[in-house]
Amino acid sequence: MALAFFVLLLLLAPVVVVSQPGFLSIDCGLDDSYSGYTDKITGIVYVSDGPYIDSGENRRIAPNLESSWLYRQHTLRSFPSGMRNCYALPTVADTKYLVRASFAYGNYDGTNSSSLSFDLRLGPNYWDTVYTDATMNFVIEAIFVAWAGWAPVCLVNTGRGTPFMSALELRQLGDALYPLVVPGLIISTYARENMGSSDSITRYPDDRYDRYWWPMVMASSRWVNESTERTIQPDTNFAVPSPILQTAVAATVNDTALTAITWQYRSSSFMTYLHFADFQDTQIRRFDINTNENQSGPTLKSYSPSYMASSTVYTENYTSTDGNYNITLSASATSVLPPMINALEIYVRVPYESPTTLPEDFDAIMAIKIEYGVKKNWMGDPCFPTKYAWDGVKCSNTSGNTTRITSLDLTNSYLHGAISKNFTLLTALENLDLSHNNLSGSVPDSLLSLPSLRVLNVSGNQLSDNSLCKSYTGSLTFRYDYDVSTCKPSSSPPRNKAIIVVSVVVPVLVVVVLLLAYFIWREKRKRNVQPVSTHDLTTDSQFDNAPSSHEGNQKKSDNRRFTYKELEVLTNNFKKLIGQGGFGPVYYGRLEDDTEVAVKMRSESSSHGLDEFLSEVQSLTKVHHRNLVSLIGYCWEKDHLALVYEYMSHGSLFDHLRGKNDAAEALNWRTRVHVVLEAAQGLDYLHKGCNLPIVHRDVKTSNILMGQKLQAKIGDFGLSKTYLSDTQTHISATAAGTAGYMDPEYYLTGRLTESSDVYSFGVVLLEVATGMPPIVPGHGHIIQRVKQKIATGDIGSIADLQLGSAYDISSMWKVIDTAMTCTADSAAQRPTMATVVIQLKESLALEESREKDSSIRASRGSDIEAMVSTFHPLAR
Ligand SMILES: *[C@@H]1O[C@H](CO)[C@@H](O)[C@H](O)[C@H]1NC(C)=O
Ligand SMILES: *[C@@H]1O[C@H](CO)[C@@H](O)[C@H](O)[C@H]1NC(C)=O
Ligand SMILES: *[C@@H]1O[C@H](CO)[C@@H](O)[C@H](O)[C@H]1NC(C)=O
Ligand SMILES: *[C@@H]1O[C@H](CO)[C@@H](O)[C@H](O)[C@H]1NC(C)=O
Ligand SMILES: *[C@@H]1O[C@H](CO)[C@@H](O)[C@H](O)[C@H]1NC(C)=O
Ligand SMILES: *[C@@H]1O[C@H](CO)[C@@H](O)[C@H](O)[C@H]1NC(C)=O
Ligand SMILES: *[C@@H]1O[C@H](CO)[C@@H](O)[C@H](O)[C@H]1NC(C)=O
Ligand SMILES: *[C@@H]1O[C@H](CO)[C@@H](O)[C@H](O)[C@H]1NC(C)=O
Ligand SMILES: *[C@@H]1O[C@H](CO)[C@@H](O)[C@H](O)[C@H]1NC(C)=O
Ligand SMILES: *[C@@H]1O[C@H](CO)[C@@H](O)[C@H](O)[C@H]1NC(C)=O
Repeated sequence: MALAFFVLLLLLAPVVVVSQPGFLSIDCGLDDSYSGYTDKITGIVYVSDGPYIDSGENRRIAPNLESSWLYRQHTLRSFPSGMRNCYALPTVADTKYLVRASFAYGNYDGTNSSSLSFDLRLGPNYWDTVYTDATMNFVIEAIFVAWAGWAPVCLVNTGRGTPFMSALELRQLGDALYPLVVPGLIISTYARENMGSSDSITRYPDDRYDRYWWPMVMASSRWVNESTERTIQPDTNFAVPSPILQTAVAATVNDTALTAITWQYRSSSFMTYLHFADFQDTQIRRFDINTNENQSGPTLKSYSPSYMASSTVYTENYTSTDGNYNITLSASATSVLPPMINALEIYVRVPYESPTTLPEDFDAIMAIKIEYGVKKNWMGDPCFPTKYAWDGVKCSNTSGNTTRITSLDLTNSYLHGAISKNFTLLTALENLDLSHNNLSGSVPDSLLSLPSLRVLNVSGNQLSDNSLCKSYTGSLTFRYDYDVSTCKPSSSPPRNKAIIVVSVVVPVLVVVVLLLAYFIWREKRKRNVQPVSTHDLTTDSQFDNAPSSHEGNQKKSDNRRFTYKELEVLTNNFKKLIGQGGFGPVYYGRLEDDTEVAVKMRSESSSHGLDEFLSEVQSLTKVHHRNLVSLIGYCWEKDHLALVYEYMSHGSLFDHLRGKNDAAEALNWRTRVHVVLEAAQGLDYLHKGCNLPIVHRDVKTSNILMGQKLQAKIGDFGLSKTYLSDTQTHISATAAGTAGYMDPEYYLTGRLTESSDVYSFGVVLLEVATGMPPIVPGHGHIIQRVKQKIATGDIGSIADLQLGSAYDISSMWKVIDTAMTCTADSAAQRPTMATVVIQLKESLALEESREKDSSIRASRGSDIEAMVSTFHPLAR
């Protein structure tokens, strides 16, 4: 265990600096190439934060403010994107630590913010809230017992400014220290005062654990300052340094009571430590220690501090019903000398509210993360809070205060090298998907003997071919390029081969099919075809360009074939025009059974020809999904081409966002997220395809249609093209799409992939969040506009003003974040629609629980304001 820890440390911090043992001192935002430095005042070695965090930007405080910060941390790391960003500090499980985070805003972003606030979490558990402004240096400290090989320190954006951090310090405390701090409890420093001293902060090397001892905050005129030159023996449980004990305050001789500290704080409980060491003379000093003057808190009678040695009085769980606290020392009748006190510590008790991932699983997945350099959103606790659970990680139901990792999906994650034995450490794993990476070597035997493993997918890698054959026992479900039961290549050949064959065949097929279709069309035109009432399109070979081997899977559709006369009747002679698509006009109609339909006619002037028509019919006959507008039938007669769709009574998302076509009612946030989630599901289905993936090519708000109860469906497949998803075998098509939504990479290269739709969908998400069109003349593209606002960290400036504040901030951030990843410049960095669906589901869940959440946040906020307005310890 200890050795593993040592190795990890070396891996993480390649620059080996001679540091204080048990200290990790991180100067956030320091250039990675900078090997670190020794602080002149304390002699502490600071290192860059690069190895401990995956996200954020390096920034520097305004030059004119540098002199106001005592220590050298003038750089910081800012986190403009992501709701939550976490450092991972290496720890030794079951060891006690002091952790301190410092925040020197220093107007680094030039906005001179006066009310910056965000939350800090230790793993999934709330630690404290940061409040800071341009002039303040805020310091937050806690003592806790590490539960695993890593302690994540997370900054959570609560919609009140961009989180940042200046310094992060971890100090290993001896096991004997702070014996009341047990696993599952954080004590967050509220005050630590060096009584009788007017010095600045006392810390390392005076305090070997580098605690901050702040000078007295409020000196009373009824106190006298006492001090001694003689060294005082520290005790083992608190190790209060001698320089701290050498000063004290005492009541003036006439006064027999000394109120050491008073504070206000609502709904919490405190752990307090009072440190005493009598250094005056051996005359009797005896006093009662009263909390809240005999009323609610504990009391200690007739206490007599030791002479020239440290002793400590504590209260473990000090609460007050009215939020007022005070600690008073009153001289006993027998006392000759007045009461005195040398130092005190007050901590807020913050018990863990959330379960955590089982430490062994957490350590194992961190090892996997480091070994393969996985980034994704892999920060903080893997399973909790569930809204930030790691992508691809699924966890079991919580038992006790922990949960297990049961499923790990690392498909398409650019893993290379051998399959690590570290996977074997996830002993509760049921599903492991390592497909489509660049893994080589063989599958370790130990992995195959994992007790719970049910599905192991290693297909699409460069594994040595029959490595599974030697140990396959039949109890696992394998997804593998080889058929492990025969140890021969499986009957469906490996993906790469399939693609080469198909990519040659398909273009040829397309040409043949189009020619054939044209001749048949001409033939029918000559014969002036008699109306045929129903006709199964999918059995017409001319519509099917898929390789024949796929035919078996094809779902038979019974699309109706209409005559032009029938269309005239059902549209009442094309009376009601309801839209104008790229393909031609769209008319409202009613079938015999009163089913409402939209009839899309191909106009003579349409720039799109027969091939588009065929393309659309062909796409639509194959796909059926509740979030795709379904095709009811078609007409193909003489010069008339038409498609008959189900009628979407509530218009398009575009109409709703822009208040067009009488759809003026503003959609609330929940409805908006719901609509885009459904649209995402529709697109995801298209991309997964029934036989071959389909790229929509024209995703935009006006193509997201809404039916009864605002159920959303994706419409207009006029531009859809069937193609193969492999990046090498794209089908180049003339760039088609709508300005503002078009993937720049597709536009430049003509390379068409699903990620082009993902890009367009990202633009749709931004429109839904901001209520603004993709392009505002003179203000540029929506992506740039939102990016600029994200930098301010103020969600209120991004969200649609029509929403007011009626939305969950996390839900909104989730949509914005998703949109930003969807619209990444490089297609490779964009998520799949399946991932987008997951994100939107989470966003919807957040919004749905908004009421509850916001009331919790409000009450916590006001508590902490009360605390700040009294005297939270601050660095100078
Ligand atoms: C920043 O704000 C403070 C008050 O919040 C003000 O005193 C100071 O002048 C401002 N500085 C700048 C550079 O705007
Ligand atoms: C969880 O509970 C067990 C005992 O029930 C305890 O030993 C462990 O420290 C706890 N862990 C945390 C993180 O609270
Ligand atoms: C004790 O020291 C404090 C801090 O320096 C000072 O404010 C206070 O006036 C002193 N009290 C006396 C009685 O000298
Ligand atoms: C303390 O008592 C003495 C005598 O009783 C008096 O002279 C002095 O003013 C008192 N000091 C204070 C601070 O009350
Ligand atoms: C101490 O607390 C008690 C109970 O809340 C209150 O009655 C008393 O006035 C307080 N004393 C001081 C000095 O604040
Ligand atoms: C607190 O108790 C002590 C004795 O136990 C008593 O002398 C003192 O008056 C009490 N204080 C209050 C405010 O009741
Ligand atoms: C702390 O005190 C409160 C009130 O006396 C009590 O409800 C709570 O259970 C205590 N907590 C601990 C951890 O002792
Ligand atoms: C586990 O991962 C660590 C990196 O975190 C690596 O050093 C170690 O070699 C791996 N262990 C095994 C058994 O593969
Ligand atoms: C987890 O809990 C949920 C609801 O409590 C239940 O539906 C589900 O079956 C449980 N899963 C397992 C693996 O126990
Ligand atoms: C995959 O690994 C092989 C050998 O390790 C290497 O030659 C190849 O470039 C890698 N491919 C990718 C895409 O990383």
